[in-house]
Amino acid sequence: MFKDYFQYKGINFPDLIYSPKVLQKVENNFQVRDDDIFNVTYQKSGTVWMLEILSLIRSNGDPTWCQTVLNWERAPWYETVVGYRKCLKNKSPRLISSHLPVQLFAKNFFNSKAKVIYTVRNPKDVLVSLYYFALMFHPYRDPGTFDQFLEGFLKGEVPFGSWFDHVKGWMSLKDKQNFFFITYEELQEDLRGSIVRICDFLGKDLDDAAIDSVVANASFETMKNNKMSNFSLSPRFFMNQKKSAFLRKGISGDWRNHLTVEQSERFDQIYQERLRDFDITFPWDKE
Ligand code: A3P
Repeated sequence: MFKDYFQYKGINFPDLIYSPKVLQKVENNFQVRDDDIFNVTYQKSGTVWMLEILSLIRSNGDPTWCQTVLNWERAPWYETVVGYRKCLKNKSPRLISSHLPVQLFAKNFFNSKAKVIYTVRNPKDVLVSLYYFALMFHPYRDPGTFDQFLEGFLKGEVPFGSWFDHVKGWMSLKDKQNFFFITYEELQEDLRGSIVRICDFLGKDLDDAAIDSVVANASFETMKNNKMSNFSLSPRFFMNQKKSAFLRKGISGDWRNHLTVEQSERFDQIYQERLRDFDITFPWDKE
């Protein structure tokens, strides 16, 4: 199968699911509604986990929606050709997923009251998760060796560009009222407390039983067993989960099983250089 990437404003996109025309429309014409909720991440940072949490919060803890509607229908990725059309049709309040870097996001968002939840994950774990994803997700180029892939990741040659630019770009909104950020590691550490904070941000008042239900239904095990959330119904054309499951391990720190000491040090060196002037400390910075 022929698969390649095109560049849009310096960022790589796989041409099987994206098009310059739709990216242009997203940026310039997408009508953001004030009650839209955007689930934004750099890929492999917990997008579908947050998608499930937001779906369950929207349903006041009732799992029926998650059990009957595919996750990519509940919160479509609006920058994809198919997702863009779905977003236009979905009823408010819409949930919308996105991996776009901030400079390519819908311009209309910036003068709206719509909300963004931005989930960040230890980039070494993102790298490992993305490596396995590239092995099974057909629109992506073959990752090559892990070492080659690491270099491409650090240079931002993977789809959606550099992790460093993505995080720095989005985190520049951190003082805005309609922007909330959380880490994958915080979700792991305290899922219930994280859900309560997300509800506060969204102005959703869920009782204890509803929050318990969000916690239970957004667990890795429940999601792995839910065909609406585990991508088992995704066309074979897109992914081969025999090579690697979408819901693969669902843990923090798997990078330790994959990066050599040299690779980890090389990563740290670039991380320090790229985030030198950054004033935010993430959980993994303290390790
Ligand atoms: P791993 O490959 O490390 O297992 P995204 O949704 O952004 O593509 O991210 C996918 C990653 O999030 C995968 O990481 C996946 O297993 C993990 N993930 C998805 N749902 C999760 C959950 N409920 N709990 C923990 N991790 C989850």
